[in-house]
Amino acid sequence: MIWAANWKMNLSPQEGIDFLQNFVENQSTEVQKHTWFFPQNYSIGAIYKILNKTPIQWGAQNISDKQNGAFTGENSASTLKDLGATSCLIGHSERRSLFHEDNELLSSKIAYAQSLDLCPLYCIGESLEDRESNQIEKVLNEQLKIGLSKLDTNKSFAIAYEPVWAIGTGQVASLEQVEEAHAFIRQKMKEIYSEDIAHKCPILYGGSVKPENAKSLASGKNVDGFLIGGASLKIEDFCQIIEQSK
Ligand code: PGA
Repeated sequence: MIWAANWKMNLSPQEGIDFLQNFVENQSTEVQKHTWFFPQNYSIGAIYKILNKTPIQWGAQNISDKQNGAFTGENSASTLKDLGATSCLIGHSERRSLFHEDNELLSSKIAYAQSLDLCPLYCIGESLEDRESNQIEKVLNEQLKIGLSKLDTNKSFAIAYEPVWAIGTGQVASLEQVEEAHAFIRQKMKEIYSEDIAHKCPILYGGSVKPENAKSLASGKNVDGFLIGGASLKIEDFCQIIEQSK
């Protein structure tokens, strides 16, 4: 299992330090190896030195697809890499809906992240409207085909299936819904690339994962981990999720 914490625009630098010191003291090296943290950018400067002393994977919640230059307010992936990051989130549904990031742009971000050896955790998922109009497979297919069009399969990458209607709503997808989507993603990866690549690609589920539902969701055959938002902000909840699903 992989446990990825998406802190979104939460936890100050000091709160991040307190969280991580507590986490590192109380979790085994084995668990730390399978844990990924995505803090907000302004906290990264305070906590990267702690993270770099651990086997924890970490990165930013977004990167620019540009190397450098006149892009006021943008986030440089090469600076992130210089700080020691190993990964980055790409295409979270909040980036797609609030910041109008489309599959085309996300494909460039994935390519750029991989060129720096940052492992992209590419987020995909349908909206409620898509689900109600039977468009789930069409939407996932486009997100995979276009978003991964520049993927380097010799480098590491991972996918997070996050149905938009389940994010931050408390309305978790059922195990059956998760399994159906993950099996579809696995199958598509096989069609686009190969059985081997489809098999190796971790597929995480995200959307209202909580200590109460972690065990059941983790039992899914194609569930390789979780991307956790709200419940990753409280160390007790995050550690409970790990406990329930390891
Ligand atoms: P949530 O968020 O766990 O609060 O639903 C998940 C995410 O947005 O990655």
